[in-house]
Amino acid sequence: MTRVAVFPGSFDPMTNAHLDVAERASRLFDRLIIGVLNNPKKRPLFDIDERVRLIRASVADLGEHVTVDAFDGLTVDFARGHGAGFIVRGLRAVSDFEAELQMALTNRKLAPEIDTTFLMTALEYGFVSSSLAKEVAQFGGDVTAMLPGPVAEALRDRVRATPRV
Ligand code: PNS
Repeated sequence: MTRVAVFPGSFDPMTNAHLDVAERASRLFDRLIIGVLNNPKKRPLFDIDERVRLIRASVADLGEHVTVDAFDGLTVDFARGHGAGFIVRGLRAVSDFEAELQMALTNRKLAPEIDTTFLMTALEYGFVSSSLAKEVAQFGGDVTAMLPGPVAEALRDRVRATPRV
């Protein structure tokens, strides 16, 4: 049996917490598709093509069974389109739990054949979030420990080009 999972998110941008979850999920599933939500209403810092490119650069070492795709619409439709039986999400702290539970239950109602699986983010990345990394970079702080190399570089360049992100 081939176990296929999707790991959906906004990834604006991908953090080391996301990368940790992707790395561990890549060992659990035969195929892992990282799904990047294209939601222009959220006014992301990185457009959809940049986010996809940065994730591809960050997960290049995980193997060919890990791929990255943009999507819009429902996560369960994206998962079904890829023949996935699982959705992967990371949990950093109790504060993530309520929203994740709500999403998992909604997705289950929409697609009972798809199960959401949670991976606890590694302790050292429990504090990392995309929005905090953007804030730190904006004020000139070092984001090296929070972001994969290609992402940290892209964020530094973006902040330099537009000081107020
Ligand atoms: O990285 P994020 O912003 O926490 O990811 C949230 C995401 C993209 C997983 C969630 O907003 C989502 O699944 N959006 C797609 C629309 C959808 O399927 N909604 C119903 C389930 S909540």
